[in-house]
Amino acid sequence: MSDTWVILGASSAVARAFAREAASHGAALVLAGRDMEDLEHQAADLAIRYGVPAMPLRFEARDLATHAGFVAECRRRAGDGLLNVFLAFGVMPDQAAADADPEVAAGMVEANFTGAASVLGALAPVLEAQRGGTVVALGSVAGDRGRKRNFLYGATKAALLVYLQGYAARLSGAGVRVLCIKAGPVDTGMTWALPKLPFMASPRGFAAAAWQRAGKGGGSAYLPGIWWPVMTIIRLLPTPIFNKLNI
Ligand SMILES: NC(=O)c1ccc[n+]([C@@H]2O[C@H](COP(=O)([O-])OP(=O)(O)OC[C@H]3O[C@@H](n4cnc5c(N)ncnc54)[C@H](OP(=O)(O)O)[C@@H]3O)[C@@H](O)[C@H]2O)c1
Repeated sequence: MSDTWVILGASSAVARAFAREAASHGAALVLAGRDMEDLEHQAADLAIRYGVPAMPLRFEARDLATHAGFVAECRRRAGDGLLNVFLAFGVMPDQAAADADPEVAAGMVEANFTGAASVLGALAPVLEAQRGGTVVALGSVAGDRGRKRNFLYGATKAALLVYLQGYAARLSGAGVRVLCIKAGPVDTGMTWALPKLPFMASPRGFAAAAWQRAGKGGGSAYLPGIWWPVMTIIRLLPTPIFNKLNI
């Protein structure tokens, strides 16, 4: 029985590319998300292209009550194989929209953090019981330091990183690897309306690098790697200088 990757937020451009990468390495897939029509097309395409089982499954990050049942269904679909997780769902309304409407702000926290913590919490006993597997979650360079332009989004990603550090510690005894990818800008629906961003990665190149990095173990990693020196400088900037920057 081949290993299975559960792709959470499988309609995301990055997740779509990661699913292809996993399928090209022979993994079975559970494509989890909200747009069932898209997921069914994607599953059929992956099954034909790579000859792997690929199954769509409904998943809503903000519907916490459904997460235990969702995880049980993932376990069932993975059969006797190892279950791995790629967590890619998330939203990024702009800071002004979140400032103006508490529903927008709370919705972002719920989707990006509460939903992630809830589904990962439900997955933990399954991962522990199988004694192995890999969890890859998409954090962001925005979580390294709160910037004027998107500090609520950044805060959700910083919270996710801290959650994943503890999650990794909890699961390390069971041989489960947990990797938080601190992603720089990727050319997806999330960024298309933004002004030109530096070092923009393609979803395909990003997913290939994420797959490779996941094979090396857990922890956290900047992708693309150029973000490590950039964020080191940004983190070290003195606050009076940082606060004057329009970033
Ligand atoms: N693009 C970037 O520059 C960048 C940089 C750093 C980090 N990231 C992170 O990378 C991840 C993937 O982003 P992307 O760029 O590929 O964006 P994307 O194409 O907009 O994908 C986001 C995905 O999240 C799903 N989603 C949103 N709210 C959800 C909810 N409540 N329940 C279930 N699914 C939900 C969306 O599903 P629907 O299709 O159903 O709406 C969509 O499939 C996100 O976590 C993002 O924060 C992206």
